Amino acid sequence: MQEKRPLLPLLFFSVAILAGAGAAVAKSTIEPCTGTASCSALLGYILYADLKVSELAVLFHVDSAALLSANAIDVSFPGVENRILPAGLFLRVPATCSCSGGIRRSLSTRYTVRPADTLTSIAASVYSGLATPDQIQEANNIRDPAALDVGRTLVIPLPCTCFNSTDNNLPTVYLSYVVRAGDSVPAIAALFSTTITDIMNVNAMGSPSIRPGDILAIPLPACASMFPSYASDYGLIVANGTYAITASHCVQCSCGPGNLRLYCSPASLSASCSSMQCSNSNLMIGNYTSQQTSAGCNVTSCNYGGFVNGSIATTLTTSLQPQCPGQHQLPPVIPPPTTVIHDSFLIPSPSPSPSPSLSPSPSAVQAGTTITTPRTMVPGTFSLPGVSPAYVPSVSTSEAVFVSPLSHILWLFGLSFGLYNSLF
Ligand SMILES: *[C@@H]1O[C@H](CO)[C@@H](O)[C@H](O)[C@H]1NC(C)=O
Ligand SMILES: *[C@@H]1O[C@H](CO)[C@@H](O)[C@H](O)[C@H]1NC(C)=O
Ligand SMILES: *[C@@H]1O[C@H](CO)[C@@H](O)[C@H](O)[C@H]1NC(C)=O
Ligand SMILES: *[C@@H]1O[C@H](CO)[C@@H](O)[C@H](O)[C@H]1NC(C)=O
Ligand SMILES: *[C@@H]1O[C@H](CO)[C@@H](O)[C@H](O)[C@H]1NC(C)=O
Repeated sequence: MQEKRPLLPLLFFSVAILAGAGAAVAKSTIEPCTGTASCSALLGYILYADLKVSELAVLFHVDSAALLSANAIDVSFPGVENRILPAGLFLRVPATCSCSGGIRRSLSTRYTVRPADTLTSIAASVYSGLATPDQIQEANNIRDPAALDVGRTLVIPLPCTCFNSTDNNLPTVYLSYVVRAGDSVPAIAALFSTTITDIMNVNAMGSPSIRPGDILAIPLPACASMFPSYASDYGLIVANGTYAITASHCVQCSCGPGNLRLYCSPASLSASCSSMQCSNSNLMIGNYTSQQTSAGCNVTSCNYGGFVNGSIATTLTTSLQPQCPGQHQLPPVIPPPTTVIHDSFLIPSPSPSPSPSLSPSPSAVQAGTTITTPRTMVPGTFSLPGVSPAYVPSVSTSEAVFVSPLSHILWLFGLSFGLYNSLF
């Protein structure tokens, strides 16, 4: 058991009314917090439309390079900012998870209302279920959701958790995952290379039952930096299989494979950077030399030590290791994906709801809450690095409706608000 977890279940229940269709009850894991410390988190997002990299970056108010890096997409690919990413693509969006109103959430995202937008379309489609219409309404003090002013800028509260950036005492980045029709906890666990028990512990679940629209915190193994507290990128933590760009786009960091140690090297972006060479050495950050001696392997490495006062701090370390390190292997970097592949039986069909035959499997995750126009997917070769190659979310052609028995709704109400009030 993890003592850092609060003893009471922290499931926060909210009720979302889908336009004229019925009620959806979705649970999402919330983490109470105090203070001002924030952490790095990821949001699991499915593109609702074809979007340029730069448009997606604006949608989430994140840096394009950070967005690409979090998905191990080549930041130096020519014209990458203008590349079009396909609707239905699953991406990890980096988010700063802060503490606001006593709970963890990300509040840096802004959305400008366009004609024909409704709170439901913004929440369920544009932000792929990461926010609910109620949360957007509340965060923006909207009195009449039916009268949204075009051009108005809305704060989009997004779900995230920090849990001290650890899980079972190991460095961890938490990804907020919106459950799709056809998902199951075992399938999600397999998808993210974690265990059912771990997902249940992290989300304080009594049973592994989930519903479309629920938001789970998924622990991703990560590697943590040990930069001094005065470094501007103090606390940098990078999920395995992904990259982070830091030091004004000069340095990229990822996990070393196998060992989950942070490895930083010069980024391949053209930025004007301060020196990346270790003093008293000809080594650059990321470089190392090794020499076999009778006592072991004498490894000297030049490491990135954080971004301090606008300069790149370096540390030269020498250590005796049992074996000389092999070739450095970094997470594979891919070109910007252009297609989304998915199982043939999930090809968009006129059927409005997922049929029971769509049994949960890691390869069958349906984007039940996204509202999109029908499109024909061209089978391609893209798979998300760090995620099972079999996993490709598909886009449903119609609005999914989740109706639950009234007793269930009432039970959730009773539990959640009582609990919520008693906690805060
Ligand atoms: C938080 O994480 C740090 C290491 O990153 C660890 O030393 C500390 O014990 C953790 N605190 C809790 C409450 O788990
Ligand atoms: C980290 O990712 C690599 C692939 O990039 C994988 O082989 C390895 O098993 C992962 N490690 C952990 C602890 O998840
Ligand atoms: C040192 O690192 C730089 C930048 O990553 C690389 O271009 C160079 O080949 C490395 N040198 C050695 C000796 O490994
Ligand atoms: C290891 O290498 C460094 C520099 O290459 C050298 O200064 C140091 O004496 C070496 N240590 C041992 C134990 O060989
Ligand atoms: C950063 O710069 C300020 C003044 O420019 C200086 O007082 C401070 O000591 C510097 N910090 C470090 C860690 O070098």
